[in-house]
Amino acid sequence: QLKDNTIIIVLGASGDLAKKKTYPALFGLYRMGFLPKGVKIVGYARTKMDSAEYHKRITSYIKNVEDEEAKTKLEEFKELSTYISGGYEDDASFDNLNKHLVDIEGGFQGNERNRLFYLALPPSVFIPVARNLKVHCYSKAGINRIIVEKPFGKDLESCRELLSSLKQHWSEDETFRIDHYLGKEMVKNLLVLRFANVAMGAAWDKNSISNVQITFKEPFGTEGRGGYFDEFGIIRDILQNHLLQTLSILTMERPVSFAAEDIRDEKVKVLRAIPPIEREDTLLGQYVAANGKPGYLDDDTVPHNSVCPTYAATTLWIHNPRWEGVPFILKAGKALNEAKVEIRIQFKDVTQGIFKDISRNELVLRIQPAEAMYLKLNTKTPGLYTRAIPTEMDLTYKRRFTDIHIPEAYESLILDALKGDHSNFVRDDELDVAWKIFTPILHWIDGKSGPAPKPVQYPYASRGPKELEAFIAKYGYKRSTEG
Ligand code: BG6
Repeated sequence: QLKDNTIIIVLGASGDLAKKKTYPALFGLYRMGFLPKGVKIVGYARTKMDSAEYHKRITSYIKNVEDEEAKTKLEEFKELSTYISGGYEDDASFDNLNKHLVDIEGGFQGNERNRLFYLALPPSVFIPVARNLKVHCYSKAGINRIIVEKPFGKDLESCRELLSSLKQHWSEDETFRIDHYLGKEMVKNLLVLRFANVAMGAAWDKNSISNVQITFKEPFGTEGRGGYFDEFGIIRDILQNHLLQTLSILTMERPVSFAAEDIRDEKVKVLRAIPPIEREDTLLGQYVAANGKPGYLDDDTVPHNSVCPTYAATTLWIHNPRWEGVPFILKAGKALNEAKVEIRIQFKDVTQGIFKDISRNELVLRIQPAEAMYLKLNTKTPGLYTRAIPTEMDLTYKRRFTDIHIPEAYESLILDALKGDHSNFVRDDELDVAWKIFTPILHWIDGKSGPAPKPVQYPYASRGPKELEAFIAKYGYKRSTEG
């Protein structure tokens, strides 16, 4: 389904996203032979630079080019990449970009001209750029697609405004809204785990499951991104999108088929069964200086009295027959003791009887680092007496799938966009319902519905607020009794 005669245009080519994610992913796809035959890549940004400078930048964006084959591929990749500078708001710049695209297309065989626009840009220029691309750079002889990325507004109202402005120029079919968690291997595995295994499917409901935690931990603070972060906070940065998207796939009903609309219909349905988050189901934190590291408020780009949360735990409830009464705890924090993203499903106690004080079963899906799934099971201690101890059935990807490259999320998603597959992109109505769940709590945190709450403090490089233990216990989470 890959289309020949394609140009990928990266807008914001000198920015952070392009550097850290877009270019490395494009190169990864190129290296593995997954980009369309004869593809060309055009970088566009305000920074003025010539080809040599641009190629030098590409080299610096791409890591792990060790062997000769990779070096050759990188040279080829640079050959097919060109750069053009221009503004984001004026017509002349986009006419100029279009001229450049038409020149490149002069070298294509056949009549088709396909363009994939990747907006690696700050939200302030989304709308003018989307408009200018449509007016000046839209191919009339092929497929046009546009990739956009969060933030999609700051609440329900601003999201609706943004979406309707974008829709004036780009149809839903042409639009690919990235939530890069949907491209992560373990998140994509959820569909298979749930719907290709009778054993899992049978235990996947309120009768068997006591509580679920989806956890995001990062070991660094907002260093250098304080300005952006303070405007958004951890809930808009991680919970409302990455963790909620993961939750929707974890909890949706089985889609009729693998088709994008069938999957997204089911995700919307389950999200609609979640009421807005209550204040009492929320714990907010902000990191302070510790272990030789600065606190959030020590960042010069952050207002000195900011109450912006850098940590949040919130509990969601799904009102449908499968999940009624099961707490889903989403928690995320910056400046913690480790880098880890995981889903932890804790099953209910066995009914009392022959065994006392035994641990609950838990299924842990580690999304990163080092993808793994493990199931905590009680097992008889081998020997001449009967005693149950907690053990693990462990599927660590590195051990089980040796020599298999686990794709980066962005590699997987850019390839999907090139193929026109929307399954792992966020539909407009998904965004709407996601904002409905979070908007009231965000307005409270923003101080729009009374005084803003003050987050509790936690030390940099700690496990998070000390109140967390009691918070998760409130929803029935029980630590396993070891041995
Ligand atoms: C981004 C957030 O969406 O996701 C960042 O804006 C965060 O704050 C990043 O660091 C985490 O992505 P990953 O893939 O490293 O888990």
